[in-house]
Amino acid sequence: MFNFASKTTVVFGPDTVQGLGKEAASLGAAKVLLVTDKGIVQAGLLEKVRQPLAEAGITVAVFDEVQPNPTTLTVSEGAQAARDHQADLIVGLGGGSSMDAAKAIAIMSVNEGPLEDYCEVFDAWPNPPPPVICLPTTAGTGAEVSLAAMINLTGQNVKRALFGASIQPAVAIVDPSLTLGLPSRLTALTGIDALSHAVEAYIAKDANPISDALAEKAIELVADNLREAYAHSDNLEARTHMLLASTIAVIACSSAGLGIVHSLAQTLGGYYDVPHGLSIAVCFPIGIGYNVPVALEKCGQVSRMLGTHTNGMSNDAAAHSVVDALRKLTTDLDVQDDLQSLGVREADLPRLAEICMEDGCTPTNPRPIDTTAFEALYRSALRPQE
Ligand SMILES: [Fe+2]
Repeated sequence: MFNFASKTTVVFGPDTVQGLGKEAASLGAAKVLLVTDKGIVQAGLLEKVRQPLAEAGITVAVFDEVQPNPTTLTVSEGAQAARDHQADLIVGLGGGSSMDAAKAIAIMSVNEGPLEDYCEVFDAWPNPPPPVICLPTTAGTGAEVSLAAMINLTGQNVKRALFGASIQPAVAIVDPSLTLGLPSRLTALTGIDALSHAVEAYIAKDANPISDALAEKAIELVADNLREAYAHSDNLEARTHMLLASTIAVIACSSAGLGIVHSLAQTLGGYYDVPHGLSIAVCFPIGIGYNVPVALEKCGQVSRMLGTHTNGMSNDAAAHSVVDALRKLTTDLDVQDDLQSLGVREADLPRLAEICMEDGCTPTNPRPIDTTAFEALYRSALRPQE
C-alpha cells in the first residue's frame, strides 16, 4: 500500500513566466513579496518576474538578501519585510536557497516562532502561511514542488528542515528560459543534485511504483542532457530537459523520501556552509555505495541508465558499477572536489555523524545506519588510501 499526492500546479515551458500575473491573481493576491538574491537581480531576471505581476495590478516589494544556505536570521528579516508590505503571496525566484527562504518567510510572516521549534515536524506552525509561488532559475533543487525548506540555524552550524503541505508551492512556474546562461559550474552541481533526488527516491525505503516511474524518467533525462547543458549553456532543449528532470525528481522524492546522500551532504552544508550541490556531488558516491547491497537490482538499473554496459557482469558487479558511473559523471563535469577541499576535519567526524543521525532524510534510507557507520563513511572518503 502507498499514498501519492502532489499539490503543486506545474506550469512548464519557455516564457511561461509571462503568465505569473494571472497565476498570482487567481490566488487572490494583491501584494507580493518577491524573495530572491542579488545575483538574480544582477542577471536581469528580476524584471522578467516583476513585470507580469505589475501588469496584473499587483504591488510588489522585493527582498533580495538571500544567501546560499539561508539562515534563521535572513528568514526573520524577510518575514519582517513581508509584514511591512502586508504580503498576501510570497514569490520565490532563484535556486533552492531563494525558494526555501520564500517558504520559510511565508511561515514566519504569520507565526512568532522561534523557527527552530517548527523544524522536523510536519506543519508545526499554528497559523497557516500565505501561499507561495516558485520560479526556479537552476535545474536541480526542485524546491518549486517540494514541501520542505532547508534552513541553517544561525549560530548552531546545523541545517534543519521545515516541512508541511502548507508550504508546498501552490504554483510552480518552471520556465527553462530563466536557466539559460547559468554558469557551467552551477549547471554541473545543480544537475548532480537533481540526479541525487531521483536516485535516492528510486532506492528509498518508501519508494512505490509511481515514484519509481518518475525517478526513472528523471534519471534518463539527466543522463541524456546534463553533459550537453554543461558544455553549451545556451542549449534551450538541454536546459528544458534538465529542468523537467529536476521537477520530476522532487515530485518522486516528495513521495518516496531521500536517504543518506542528503544526510551526509546537508550535514556538511550546515557545518561548513558548503553549497548544497557541491556537498551532494562529493557525498553522492559515498552514500550510494553504502546502499548498494540492499538495492542490487535498482542500482544496476541506474548504472545502465547512466551508460554502463553491464552485459556479462554479475548482478552484484552491475550494482556496484553505479559508484563508478557516478564518479565518471562528476569527472566529466570537472567536479574535482573532495571532503578535504570542502574543509572537513577528522576531529569533527564524531559530531558530523551525530548530526547525520538527526537529519530528516536518514529514516527513509533503505539500509539501516548508525553513528558509527556514518563516521566510517566520512572517514573512508577523507582517507581513501587507508
Ligand atoms: Fe538535494
